[in-house]
Amino acid sequence: MNQKDADALVFFGATGDLAYKKIFPALQALAKRGNLSVPVIGVAKAGWTLDQLKSRARDSVENYGGLDPAAFAQLSGCLHYIDGDYADPATFQLLRRELADAKHPLHYLAIPPTLFEIVIHQLGESGCAKGARVVIEKPFGHDYGTAQMLNSVVHSSFDEENVFRIDHYLGKNTVQNLLFFRFANAFLEPLWNRQFVESVQITMAENFGVEGRGKFYDQTGAVRDVVQNHLLQVLSNIAMEPPPGLDAEMLRDEKAKVLKGIRPLQPRDVIRGQFRSYRNEPGVSANSQVETFVALRLEINSWRWKGVPFYIRAGKCLPVTATEVLVKLRQPPAVFSEIAPPPNYFRFRVTPNLMIAVGALVKKAGAQVEAQPVELVISEESDPAEMGAYEELLFDAMRGNSARFARQDYVEEAWRIVDPVLGDVVPVYEYEPGTWGPSEVSESIRPDGGWFNPSRQ
Ligand code: BG6
Repeated sequence: MNQKDADALVFFGATGDLAYKKIFPALQALAKRGNLSVPVIGVAKAGWTLDQLKSRARDSVENYGGLDPAAFAQLSGCLHYIDGDYADPATFQLLRRELADAKHPLHYLAIPPTLFEIVIHQLGESGCAKGARVVIEKPFGHDYGTAQMLNSVVHSSFDEENVFRIDHYLGKNTVQNLLFFRFANAFLEPLWNRQFVESVQITMAENFGVEGRGKFYDQTGAVRDVVQNHLLQVLSNIAMEPPPGLDAEMLRDEKAKVLKGIRPLQPRDVIRGQFRSYRNEPGVSANSQVETFVALRLEINSWRWKGVPFYIRAGKCLPVTATEVLVKLRQPPAVFSEIAPPPNYFRFRVTPNLMIAVGALVKKAGAQVEAQPVELVISEESDPAEMGAYEELLFDAMRGNSARFARQDYVEEAWRIVDPVLGDVVPVYEYEPGTWGPSEVSESIRPDGGWFNPSRQ
């Protein structure tokens, strides 16, 4: 074990949804790869016993990825449980005792954002923050002002180098590949600027609704849930300059620089939608104005990107589940025909699998000079042995590697961009589940040539 390595993992929200869907499977995967030997202490207020937590963990891995008996036995042997109220100092005294002689615990806050402050405060007061690191789930803050406030609360107990703001998109190989592919191949970078790129579209489509998370979602909405974090991270990887080295701070400096060049969104740049029947979801207010769909347009004020529109679209209950980036090049000249051919494009699929495709034209067989659009698929893979996003990020956080976590300045910049359009500043239009959002989108937030809709394949 390295001196910097965490010697205990504490996770708050042990009986919750995130632990169930993501954390237990990630812990089992860490155990399987021989990367989990420290005590894992779950904390929650559910009136549960350790055995109940273990059976929840088993249920979780059975439903999300499958049970690996040996790895699960290893995880189960590491599990501890503390049942207690986060507002009660006694819970944290118990935790202090349970941590025994651990010097570098990692505290993972897999809890609703409203509880971050109290838990961080209690960690500091009880001495559990000493020598420790903290992982905080997104969204970090509720807007620009609250993110700044939360940062100062966090910094009252933890130094910035020990703060890990998690965004699981940064753990996705497909998202990291956006950056890698750009800078590891000589053919792409000469085109990657306003001379050649006409527009960029980022679409995150999900064909399901809020799936029992109505209470959380109704306080959050699509902008806070996925745009401020996941999709601006995707945009940063597409738009950033190459960092001068692999140092975590160099990479994070470049990402923050992209966001600094984006002006705050104005209401005219945004369309919001809500799928019909959203208000009937448990936990959702009967007259909710919260968006389950958003489409927006922004511009990056930089030498490379000035004048190139970037479009972002995200929604629940759309026709497919896929996140894709479409980088459309400018139209080539009409040399072989009267009409100029359609532009080439690069298409990057980020979820559910990796795919990179180039849209091109070839000549149709025959005497006529006729064009046929084709896609050159550069890569398509899905390796079940690959580390999952949560596993990778937990592994990094336990080793103190912060490159794939969001830094304070980046998070604040991201809020600065979306802040003016949060809440109900922009009207929300209803859309039918299974469609590509409200029809108002195609009237005002529409890339030249229209939106590219990811397909099912
Ligand atoms: C989460 C959001 O952060 O990301 C969810 O809260 C969303 O609303 C999910 O469904 C999507 O993640 P992935 O990895 O399935 O694309």
